[in-house]
Parts: sequence; structure tokens; C-alpha cells
Amino acid sequence: MKTTKLMERIKSIIKNLSSKYLLLPLLLFSAPLAAQTENSSGVSPTTAFYVVVVLLIVVAILVMLLAVSLLSLLKAIVNKGMSPEKKASLEKEPSWFAKTWMKWNDLKPLEEEQDILLDHDYDGIKELDNHLPPWWKALFYLSVVYAVIYLLVFHVFKTSPLQEEEYEIAMALAEATKSQKEETLVIDFDESNVPFADDAEALADGKKFFEAQCGMCHKADGGGLAGPNLTDDYWRHGGSMTNIYNTIKNGVPNTAMIAWESKLNPIRLQNVASYVKSLRGTNPPGALPPDGELYVEESNSKEQ
Ligand code: HEC
Repeated sequence: MKTTKLMERIKSIIKNLSSKYLLLPLLLFSAPLAAQTENSSGVSPTTAFYVVVVLLIVVAILVMLLAVSLLSLLKAIVNKGMSPEKKASLEKEPSWFAKTWMKWNDLKPLEEEQDILLDHDYDGIKELDNHLPPWWKALFYLSVVYAVIYLLVFHVFKTSPLQEEEYEIAMALAEATKSQKEETLVIDFDESNVPFADDAEALADGKKFFEAQCGMCHKADGGGLAGPNLTDDYWRHGGSMTNIYNTIKNGVPNTAMIAWESKLNPIRLQNVASYVKSLRGTNPPGALPPDGELYVEESNSKEQ
């Protein structure tokens, strides 16, 4: 009879454990795992680190719960052999949980702090022997756990790279993509035959560069400031795609218009020149008056 009762108790504990506590860690788990599967090209070391952290915390929680359940089971077994008086006296005592909870909350409220002031008095500064609030202690213990995991991951098992290595990996990766790009990039034009880049991406790239680097002299809208207006039909050095590309690439000697060749790769140069060309007729407010010679667009000459 006794053993069947015991078995029932074990069963109920297992049931309790699995229904209440297993669901939460499972939910916790599913988030990083789902994030992982999305990125099939490989998990970043940081993701791996956090997955390990979550895993370890979940395992720690499970072990704790299991330990508590086993303890209560043990208590039940021990209680069985006890006299009723002993049992009654034990039952009066608060449970392990209650005791722990009380211990965590033994912080004295502000009104009662008078009672726990120590005798020390340093120039009017007195020492208080109060306990820390439970949330603070919880954070402290969690950070200790985190530190141990961090140490293991980064310095013992070295499963994740440290900052410096991470930097080197990123640089190597960038270098690899760069050289790969350069290999596939064929520049089949120069100033004599540069075509107008009319796709939105190229023009957006040109616009971004123009506003950041050329706007200070030509104004962000191209209306002209220290440098001439780039939105009208009058050009000092010609308004064709070839002319504009050439002016930007080689600059105008002895003026503030420097040669941009060393700062821009040919594609970006083409994008900027195309953007400048696309400004024609935008008529921004406050633009400088026409300057230079009238450039008449040849038919279909954006291509020129
Ligand atoms: C430090 C000021 C300055 C900056 C920055 C500058 N420019 Fe100029 N730009 C000038 C000046 C000044 C001229 C006129 C040169 C001359 O006297 O012929 C000029 C001329 C030009 C012309 C020829 C205009 C014409 O009438 O033929 C173009 C095109 C041009 N700039 C494009 C650009 C682009 C694109 C950038 C950015 C990559 C840029 N500029 C950056 C000062 C500047």
C-alpha cells in the first residue's frame, strides 16, 4: 500500500513539473531556434552565444526545480516514519520556500532603519546594516551566472571570437567580397564614351554622394554657390555626359574644382555625373544665373 502511494506522489510531481515548468523553457527555446533557421547561411557567433546562454539558464532552472521536487519527495518519505507529534511540530515550521522568500525580503523599510544604524559615525555619515532589495540580489546572482557563462564561452572553450578577432574576421570578409566584386566589375567606358546611368539605384547613389561632397560648393540642389549652377543649359566646360564626367574626373585646374578621380571609382563617377546631368531643368529656388556657353542637347544625347 505504502509503495503505491509513494508512486502516485512521484507521478503527480512529474506531471506537475512537466505541465507547469517545461512549457516555459520550450517557449523560450523556440525563439532563438526559429531565428536560427531563418538564417540558413550559418549562425553568427553572437547568436550562438546567446543560444548557449539561454540554454544554460534553462538547464539551471530545470535542475533547480528538479532539486526542489526531489527534496520535497525526500521530506515526504522522511515524514512517513515520524511520530505524529514530531510531524505536527515540523508542519508548524515555515516551508523552505517561505523561509527563502522571507530571507530575500528581509530588507527593513525606511521607517525602521533607525533600528539598524551601526555605531560608526564618520563626520556625521552613519553606517546602515540593511539588506539589499530582492530585485538587486536577483540581478547580482544573474550577473554572476552570466559572467561564468561568458568566461566559459569566450575564454575557456573559445566558441565565440573576442572583439579583436571579430574585427579581423569582418575585415577579411570585406576584403574577400571587395576583391570578388572587383573581379566581376568590368569598366567598359572612359570619358570619351561614358553612358548616362539611368537606373534609379545609380542615380540615388550619385545623389547621395553629390549632396554630401559637392553640395558645399554647388548647393545640395545643384543651384550653385561657390561653384556654378549645374541645373541650367549654360556650361563653362560643356554639358554633355562626356563633358561633365570629364570635368568631375579631372577637375578644372587652378580652381576650387579639384579632380575627383582619386576619390571616386569609375562607377561612382558615372553615377555622380549622371545625377548632375539629371538636374537639368530642375530650376531650384535661388539658383545662380547662367554662366558659360549655351549647351544644346543633341537628340537622344543623354546617351552621348
Ligand atoms: C570646393 C568647391 C567645389 C566642390 C567641393 C566641387 N566643385 Fe564643382 N566646381 C567648383 C568650381 C569653382 C567650378 C567652376 C570651375 C571653373 O572656374 O571653371 C566647378 C565646376 C564644376 C562643373 C563644371 C560646370 C560647368 O559650368 O561646366 C561640374 C560639372 C562640377 N563642378 C561638378 C562637381 C561635382 C559632381 C562635385 C562633387 C563630386 C563638385 N563639382 C565638387 C567648385 C567645387
